[in-house]
Amino acid sequence: MDTYEAILTKLDVREFAKKHVDDGTKTKILQAARSTGSSMNTQHWRFILVQDPKNLVTLAQDGTTGPWVKGADFAVIINIDPKVPGSNIDTGRVLQDMQLAAWNFGIVSRLFTGIKEADLRRDFNIPPNVKPTAVLGFGYPVRKIRGAKSRKPLEELVYSERYGAKFHPSE
Ligand SMILES: Cc1cc2nc3c(=O)[nH]c(=O)nc-3n(C[C@H](O)[C@H](O)[C@H](O)COP(=O)(O)O)c2cc1C
Repeated sequence: MDTYEAILTKLDVREFAKKHVDDGTKTKILQAARSTGSSMNTQHWRFILVQDPKNLVTLAQDGTTGPWVKGADFAVIINIDPKVPGSNIDTGRVLQDMQLAAWNFGIVSRLFTGIKEADLRRDFNIPPNVKPTAVLGFGYPVRKIRGAKSRKPLEELVYSERYGAKFHPSE
């Protein structure tokens, strides 16, 4: 899939089919994470791959905004070093790369950031020197996903030269 097409069509999906994603494809999605650039190339992130259905239920309980993760085929907990400047941006970049790689393989995903941090740390043995910032759930879609997005028009989001000055997009 063309990168531009992937960006324009990818949706965040929270319903997953029972069908399993094979290990090779999971590894490719993790390779996408590994390939992502990080602040000063520190690669401070550490990822926890969660595949055991029991642990996916625990993960759902350790979140406040991601109950749907219990139905995912697998999940990835993103942990970063908060001392690294720009580390929050790194979270966004790496999760989007994993999501786009998954989308390329017909796998849907969604993230959640509402985390009961103490519970998550306890249940997944996360040490104090890293901070869990987001959780991604992945799986095959239950139905064909159409790439229809609810987004504001470009004219509302982009200004020309100065904040507030009208931008006229060309076709
Ligand atoms: C920083 C960030 C945090 C998000 N947190 C949550 C979350 O806690 N729970 C959830 O279900 N979705 C979460 N989402 C998913 C958004 O709701 C989703 O990207 C948005 O509704 C657009 O979805 P669409 O691309 O399918 O149109 C988050 C997305 C971002 C970028």
